[in-house]
Amino acid sequence: LPSDGGSAPTEGLVVVSNREPYSHSFDGDEITVERPVGGLTAGLDPVMRRAKGTWVAWGDGDADREVVDEHDRVGVPPEDPSYTLRRIWLDDDEVEEYYYGYSNQVLWPLCHSDRGRITYEPRFWDRYREVNRRFAEAAAAEADPESLIWFQDYHFGLAPRMVRRELGDDATLAHFWHIPWPTWDDFRVCPQSRQLMEGLLANDLLGFHVDRFCAQFLEGVDACFDDAAIDWNSGEVHRGDSTTLVKSFPMGVDTDRIERLAGSDEAEAFWNEFREERGIADDAVVAVGVDRLDYTKGIPERLRAIEYFLDSHPEFRGEFVYVQKASESRSEIPAYQEIQKEVSETAERVNDRFATDDWKPVVAITEMLPAESLYGLYRHSDLALVSSVRDGMNLVAEEYVAAQLDNGGALVLSDFAGVDDTLGDYAYTINPYATKEFAETVHRAITDDTQERRERMRHMRQLVTAYDLDAWMDDIFETAAGLRDETTE
Ligand code: G6P
Repeated sequence: LPSDGGSAPTEGLVVVSNREPYSHSFDGDEITVERPVGGLTAGLDPVMRRAKGTWVAWGDGDADREVVDEHDRVGVPPEDPSYTLRRIWLDDDEVEEYYYGYSNQVLWPLCHSDRGRITYEPRFWDRYREVNRRFAEAAAAEADPESLIWFQDYHFGLAPRMVRRELGDDATLAHFWHIPWPTWDDFRVCPQSRQLMEGLLANDLLGFHVDRFCAQFLEGVDACFDDAAIDWNSGEVHRGDSTTLVKSFPMGVDTDRIERLAGSDEAEAFWNEFREERGIADDAVVAVGVDRLDYTKGIPERLRAIEYFLDSHPEFRGEFVYVQKASESRSEIPAYQEIQKEVSETAERVNDRFATDDWKPVVAITEMLPAESLYGLYRHSDLALVSSVRDGMNLVAEEYVAAQLDNGGALVLSDFAGVDDTLGDYAYTINPYATKEFAETVHRAITDDTQERRERMRHMRQLVTAYDLDAWMDDIFETAAGLRDETTE
């Protein structure tokens, strides 16, 4: 597949996401612009520039309002405006109830099968519906009959149906759900399970990372709607006069960019300086963990496994260092405050138990790292520990693999991350709850024959390079275009 987004719509693309691709903030009196740093936003940006489309998103920067043109629209990128950013302003109540509330205290734990962390309040749902309506109205107003409207993630479970009602048969609607879809038994806990599935079935195309999430979604549809006809082979759902194709697209990362940055002088310089500053010996075995600080990422489980490893393999004391870059996130939510506390207390405990005058087993990075530094860290770490207790995909695993320019390094990967479906055959697989086995797998990943480790990494690099971010987007665009052709035939 071409790496320049060969199948991307050349016009009329409307993207709807909660996070915005550019945000403006005040730096003293001056307004500065923050650019997409990575992942989907950075990958979609060039596609949007070519398509001259519109991106609808929450205007969250403190200076966003200062730069809007008419009707809350602004051309981006600032130096060469080629597409439109349509901002939706949310007041404090909307942020609390739609974003922190329904999205992140109901849908997030629900879809990660974590009933205990669901906090449900009726006002959350009311506001989620209202905010979905505002995004839907904006998206419908930006679209033309030929448009592809592409919704991102769980913040917009209702918007597709609202848009469909407004536009009738015009426009193709696609949605990518970036987090897991749970079993029906877990999903039916949600008081609005039916409305949400109905909202999503207004899409022509609904994508998940892995087949299992598609199957679980279809099982939910089957249980919930008597009038839905499901083609279990193709993944098509027919209901009334609408058809939705439910299909998996395991998301990729921008491997070209990661390789380039991982091999840069800046990456090398960061690593050397970092090691020196933190007193990490030249020949130390370095494991890295990079996560948003979320209870789904299995960080306390990982720290317990490291503790067990140092306990059971004393020969690695003084030799093994775990570098943890955990970025605080959604901190207004009590469950996130709790996990932040648990992670720092567990890390401290491990350090208190084992640290010596010139060695600390857990080294935490709290500052933001530029991409070159992050990929430098990946490149030079001997292993990455990805121990999610539940995860839609986990792109850190793929980024780590992409940064292994010499095929060194080993990936220790949870069976419960979506990416295990693509990389599981070559990663060192773990169950994050099985502390002893997790620790033994870390030991094996370190001590395995070099040839064996390289072979595993070579296979994984082939996989992530072959289906990178561009290929993923192309796959979705091509599939959506195919559906559009079918309906216009
Ligand atoms: C996950 C979600 C994304 C979200 C990101 C960061 O990856 O799938 O939709 O943007 O977390 O979370 P935040 O709440 O800060 O947007």
